[in-house]
Amino acid sequence: MRFTVAIDGPAAAGKGTIARAVAAHFGFAHLDTGLLYRAVGIKGGDPVAAARALTLNDLQRDDLRSLAAGEAASRVAALPEVRRALVAFQREFARREGGAVLDGRDIGTVICPAAEVKLFVTASSEIRARRRWLEAGGAAAPESLEEVLEQVRSRDARDMGRADAPLRPATDAIILDTSELSIEAAVRRAIERVAARLSRR
Ligand code: CDP
Repeated sequence: MRFTVAIDGPAAAGKGTIARAVAAHFGFAHLDTGLLYRAVGIKGGDPVAAARALTLNDLQRDDLRSLAAGEAASRVAALPEVRRALVAFQREFARREGGAVLDGRDIGTVICPAAEVKLFVTASSEIRARRRWLEAGGAAAPESLEEVLEQVRSRDARDMGRADAPLRPATDAIILDTSELSIEAAVRRAIERVAARLSRR
């Protein structure tokens, strides 16, 4: 069976948690596509060459989740040649046998416009910054809440404002706003949507 769930949205909206939960519930494979851009960003040197040479090994680095890697990722992600070099890998993953969940920024719009289910997970920038800050240790985090908020806003502006594959919901995406909804409730809604679509096959 081939079945693709595309989950897009801005940083720290909860899409990773929702993607992992949906994949675990239905036994689908999961790809966090942000890791591809993070691995390219943190490698240094020519980002286009890094994207073309990317291997699964590069996704194993343990510093990919750092704020610095996120910042580097959003810079290289604005380069059309970097994006192009990563398309085939993502599309193959999406159509693998047994179902797949991909989360990122352009899965429903560019990578998998024919995905069976498209979700757009969002939340206010203040709420997202607070989540990121708490994840990084809260009062013990290296950055203040204000600094994290500033990074969230500048990353959003770069991701939404770029010419190639800007962050936006696909016209047929279901919007899940997690400012008002707990992550658990958002996971439940996402699972319901996928189950409803699977039952129509
Ligand atoms: O986890 P978080 O939401 O903070 O970020 P991420 O999903 O790991 O993505 C890091 C950066 O990679 C984003 O800010 C985007 O600029 C870029 N990205 C992208 O352009 N397209 C994707 N499909 C995934 C990530």
